Amino acid sequence: MGTAVITGAGRGLGRAMAIRLAADGHHVVAVDLDGEAAERTAATVGGEARRCDVSDWGSVAALAASIEGCDVLINNAGIWRFHALLDATPDDVTSVLAVNVVGVFACSRAFAPKMIAAGGGSIVNVSSAAASTHSPGTGIYPATKAAVISLTRQMAIEWGPHQIRVNAVGPGLVVTEGSAANHEGDKRIERGKKIPLQRVGEPEDIADVVSFLCSDASRYVTGQTIFVDGGITAGRAAI
Ligand SMILES: NC(=O)c1ccc[n+]([C@@H]2O[C@H](COP(=O)([O-])OP(=O)(O)OC[C@H]3O[C@@H](n4cnc5c(N)ncnc54)[C@H](O)[C@@H]3O)[C@@H](O)[C@H]2O)c1
Repeated sequence: MGTAVITGAGRGLGRAMAIRLAADGHHVVAVDLDGEAAERTAATVGGEARRCDVSDWGSVAALAASIEGCDVLINNAGIWRFHALLDATPDDVTSVLAVNVVGVFACSRAFAPKMIAAGGGSIVNVSSAAASTHSPGTGIYPATKAAVISLTRQMAIEWGPHQIRVNAVGPGLVVTEGSAANHEGDKRIERGKKIPLQRVGEPEDIADVVSFLCSDASRYVTGQTIFVDGGITAGRAAI
């Protein structure tokens, strides 16, 4: 196993992915805007930490320059600002697009040459069930996560000949530090009842699928998005 670079690894889904990929045998580089959080994850998994803003091309270039080899890149860092579209400010739109879309491409563009030089690699992008469900009041966020799916397919097609596999996961409702407010009190149980598998997700539910997509077991899988959502996108009304 080689080096796995994970963005947004300071907490939430990214931290769970770091723990899982380290258990799989990867050397983990935990990347986060919050440098101290990245350090905590790195200490937990025996890896390295980097502070980086994935929406800043210069910051991403410095990150890539500081890491020699990269076999796995997880583009997990993402933000959301939920509101009705008519309430979206220019800053809302620019910021969410910059992290969720530009950030995914900037990191992929920076690390792909290292993977090409090494004979291949695996990139996993974090999309969302929201890309499919489009619930009212979620602003520009679903559009950014739909763009992640499109970018995943484009990169898979262009970089497949270099043996770089590019896939995405689409989490449903998962309890993390970032989403905790949506699950306070009875909300967690009530929301769970509307999901086919009858519960909201745990970060490990997502990390396990990311592990698969980084493993040899998925060696012939590329350009795909796996929704890890308890069945939300299988056909029920949006929640
Ligand atoms: N939690 C959910 O229910 C859910 C559902 C669907 C998709 N997602 C997606 O999963 C990913 C992780 O979500 P989470 O719930 O763990 O979020 P979170 O807010 O708990 O953690 C996100 C981490 O990313 C970091 N980050 C934010 N902006 C960054 C930047 N510009 N550069 C580097 N790091 C940055 C934050 O500091 C934080 O540590 C996101 O892409 C999110 O859109 C989450």
